[in-house]
Amino acid sequence: MSNEIRPRRLVCLTGFMGSGKSTVARLLASQLGWMHTDLDRCIGQAVGLTISEIFARAGETEFRRLESEQLARIAAEYAQTRRPRIVSLGGGTITQPQNLALLREQGAVLIWLRCPIEELLRRCAQITDRPLFRDEASFRRLYNERLPIYELSDYRVDSDAEPARVVEQILALGIFPQVAV
Ligand code: S3P
Repeated sequence: MSNEIRPRRLVCLTGFMGSGKSTVARLLASQLGWMHTDLDRCIGQAVGLTISEIFARAGETEFRRLESEQLARIAAEYAQTRRPRIVSLGGGTITQPQNLALLREQGAVLIWLRCPIEELLRRCAQITDRPLFRDEASFRRLYNERLPIYELSDYRVDSDAEPARVVEQILALGIFPQVAV
């Protein structure tokens, strides 16, 4: 984890399913006056299907291809415009090495929303459109497999709290410049 303090204008939230990435990113972006881009939403919009439909019709390999394609599109748009933005990634995005490499190339800062597995299970049990939430055992296995990858993030924030509290913790990291919007 880096403690370096310098302005960053492309900030990505990572973490397991249910860790609050989309909600926290939306709130954080609105407080900063930055753009918010939700990767899963971009994927769904690009093909006109829900995430579950993509998995069901085309399989995970095709979903991962679309995910990388949309991430590359977002990164290219950022590189061109330099408009500051918060991106909520999918839970598996940075597990693909090329996605992580792309974000590093763009100088993105990665923030891991860490949440205890029991809380993630509780949250995901209530939410649909999560094709990788099949049963508790596989959910726990995937979580454990991914922990070392999330740990590659630049910062870690505990997200088993209200979204507004999580945003406060992110703002307290001291990585945001005074942005002219
Ligand atoms: C996935 C997480 C989902 C979505 C897809 C795959 C994963 O996003 O991208 O179902 O591999 O963990 P959320 O983390 O927003 O649920």
